[in-house]
Amino acid sequence: MCGIVAYVGPKDAAPILLEGLQRLEYRGYDSAGVAVVASRALKTRKVKGRVADLAAAVPARFKGTTGIGHTRWATHGVPSDVNAHPHLSSDERIAVVHNGIIENADALRQRLEGEGVKFLSETDSEVLSHLIARTVEEADSLEEAVRRALKSVVGTYGIAVVDAQRPGEVVVARLGSPIVLGIGEKEMFAASDVAALVRYTRQVVHLEDGELAVLKADGFHTFGGDARETAKQPLTVDWDTGHYDTGGYEHYLLKEISEQPDTIARTLRGRLDDRFHVAHLGGLNMDARETRSFRRVKIIGCGSAYYSGQIGAQLIEELARIPADAEPASEFRYRSPVVEADTLYVAISQSGETYDTLAAVQELKRKGGRVLGIVNTVGSAIARECDGGVYLHAGPEVSVASTKAFTSTAAAFALLALHLGRVRDLSPADGRRICEGLRALPEQIKEILTQEEHIRELAHKYATSAGMMFIGRVRGYPVAREGAQKLKEVSYVHAEAYPASELKHGPLALIGPEMPTVAIVPDDEMLDKNLTTLGEIRARSGRILMVGHRETDQADDCVIVPKNQNELDPILLSIPLQLFAYHAAVALGRDVDRPRNLAKSVTVE
Ligand code: G6P
Repeated sequence: MCGIVAYVGPKDAAPILLEGLQRLEYRGYDSAGVAVVASRALKTRKVKGRVADLAAAVPARFKGTTGIGHTRWATHGVPSDVNAHPHLSSDERIAVVHNGIIENADALRQRLEGEGVKFLSETDSEVLSHLIARTVEEADSLEEAVRRALKSVVGTYGIAVVDAQRPGEVVVARLGSPIVLGIGEKEMFAASDVAALVRYTRQVVHLEDGELAVLKADGFHTFGGDARETAKQPLTVDWDTGHYDTGGYEHYLLKEISEQPDTIARTLRGRLDDRFHVAHLGGLNMDARETRSFRRVKIIGCGSAYYSGQIGAQLIEELARIPADAEPASEFRYRSPVVEADTLYVAISQSGETYDTLAAVQELKRKGGRVLGIVNTVGSAIARECDGGVYLHAGPEVSVASTKAFTSTAAAFALLALHLGRVRDLSPADGRRICEGLRALPEQIKEILTQEEHIRELAHKYATSAGMMFIGRVRGYPVAREGAQKLKEVSYVHAEAYPASELKHGPLALIGPEMPTVAIVPDDEMLDKNLTTLGEIRARSGRILMVGHRETDQADDCVIVPKNQNELDPILLSIPLQLFAYHAAVALGRDVDRPRNLAKSVTVE
């Protein structure tokens, strides 16, 4: 979740590191730092705050052609100048940046302090620079010193290390926290995310867990845990810098909401078959017989990915008539789940690196489970770990709050449900209905986006409420949960989501003029029941903002979205709630793309 960048080559490292950190800032943003090697000495700058604050603190004469940088999301120790990375050894020879968590940091710190080492920070990461410094004299190489140091570490890491005595060399290593190498012309890069590299190169190499790499200007070598050299095939990434610019929008969040007609179209592209009304999902790696053999589907993911999984479970139950449910990956992995051979497991992740989701997939695999991934980031850890899957092709999502990945995941589930359904009992007519519904989505999303001004006014009207209740029934319930999640994470307005049917069993006590309700009311078989609930809220003087398909005088305000097939309506109903959260956050002056305390990808437990 923190960001790492490293450079070695002929150019000045600092501007490259700072530019890379800018692009990674969405991952962590409470402090940042850089170190470069110059004349066999380290120069470092670290500041609490944003990368822009760091850039302002780096002097013009901060010269050096080998360097590492970091942007932090605090786990051990408050955000501060000293707790920012890089961390140095006491003799200022070794500098380290680290993502992940060192679980035995306390024990290692005690041991090192017993040997006279003075610690400057409260971080777990600082043990690494001291451990490496203790072996670097006697080791033949920096990589050997890093390898030895990592042997005593329990936990997860993505690290980049420089040694003042070895200018022109960077060592990186990964265990549970991603590191990608970027291959340039007589220069090498490394980062925790390709976002930091695409400006300089499209040729990348993903390190596997347990791998270590040595980078020099003229190339790189990778080694496995046993210190043997490993052979790596560079990949060409097709994401370019345009994906990482706000493209004229004020915030990434608004840009990504607005991209959804395209991103959904990309998720669907080439996957709908109008002849047999089926979905082609080439990456599933399952034949028809296998596809028919599953008797249950279990979906796991975290945050918005989990809520999109709830939409997915509903789609699979309705279209394929297979019992399906979604659960937070973070809960699933800790409760020693029963893993069954006839259950299809589906892991969802935009980043493909959320640690809880990855660990759940690994647990499933260990127990012989069959796992598909619905993932946005090609070649990411979760994608690699799964037996097969569906890539979203939504392009990089930069804003911390997920929007386009959420709707693309729901669309990918519609494809999966169609696929599972059509090898079972879903009729060709129903298959056609779903295919047509999916094809209509991009245009319908465009129609919703034209209502932005109306939704902005509503956001301004409701943003100052003490809190908001979000309700929905069955298909509408995950929409309500995601709507509440969006509002709370970007605007910090308290928001709670409940099944509309459960309101009378408790939360109705909260309803009054100060607690407005956002009600998801699709025009489906639950319409009358939902309208009854609206009546109950009005009877308690509760204000109502209804998102649905038909105006009703039961609500104070309405946002009307185009009607699709009942099963696909949740995708469209989610979009006004994204715009509502965005404009509420803007109205309240929040840092929309970087909400406090959050990070885009959570690569720690
Ligand atoms: C973090 C983000 C959420 C995201 C979740 C899962 O908590 O703040 O927006 O939904 O991680 O991320 P993933 O990359 O696995 O979809």
